[in-house]
Amino acid sequence: MLVSAKEMLDKAKAGHYAVGQFNINNLEWTKAVLLTAQELNSPVILGVSEGAGKYMTGYKTVAAMVKAMIEELNITVPVALHLDHGSYEGCLKCVEAGFSSIMFDGSHYAIDENVAKTTELVALAHSKGMSIEAEVGSIGGEEDGVIGMGECADPKECKAIADLGVDMLAAGIGNIHGKYPANWAGLSFETLDAIQQLTGDMPLVLHGGTGIPDDMIKKAISLGVAKINVNTECQLSFAAATREYIEAGKDLEGKGFDPRKLLLPGTEAIKATVKEKMELFGSVNRA
Ligand code: G3H
Ligand code: ZN
Repeated sequence: MLVSAKEMLDKAKAGHYAVGQFNINNLEWTKAVLLTAQELNSPVILGVSEGAGKYMTGYKTVAAMVKAMIEELNITVPVALHLDHGSYEGCLKCVEAGFSSIMFDGSHYAIDENVAKTTELVALAHSKGMSIEAEVGSIGGEEDGVIGMGECADPKECKAIADLGVDMLAAGIGNIHGKYPANWAGLSFETLDAIQQLTGDMPLVLHGGTGIPDDMIKKAISLGVAKINVNTECQLSFAAATREYIEAGKDLEGKGFDPRKLLLPGTEAIKATVKEKMELFGSVNRA
């Protein structure tokens, strides 16, 4: 069922596990994530970047596809449909399109403007029963055109944004979108701990979930992270499995070129990645 992300994240924070946000790009992606969540009896968040929303022809198409799929696949675990790294305008569009959750990425505004816009969007989202995520500091690297410098969040700014009534807070703690470079300094647990001390029960969000070592993920969860975003890792799994299929010449055998066959190994690979992450995050059997 389609729900806001609030309840599942409050439960995750209290239960010391995290719910995965897996970004979707098309029908296969969406189906793979939903079926895995159902199989593992796990809550799940479907993330839609502005670029992916455009690729799928628009937020209304995405919302209609997700709602129909939940119904026709009999998905009974809690599912949130969430705008990822949304602009102010993108948030308004997703409210209208019937998403159940939005992220307003105001991290590139000065703190006063971030506060003003976040306040307005919190009221709007809550009036529609939707959850809202805000960001402080910035996530390094680039995701779908959203570029961050990677500076660690100021815990006091986190507290100021948390106090606006957002349902989850993304804080830059040295995390990076995409693959981590060999010389990556790791997550700043000092910063995370300081943020959690000041923000109390607020579910914290860890972006850039691809390639973070398992022990760091577990430590982040122990320090209040209740939502972890994964995008690139599913793309890499999909690409590797598809390459293997084509390099083995399977598209040239029989009807191997049929997209329903060609896209199958990649889809199965996404399922395997999602399963691995849900097990690591501890969300299995928490629906
Ligand atoms: O917002 C989505 C993410 O933070 C995903 O990051 O592509 O590094 O897994 P990733
Ligand atoms: Zn992100």
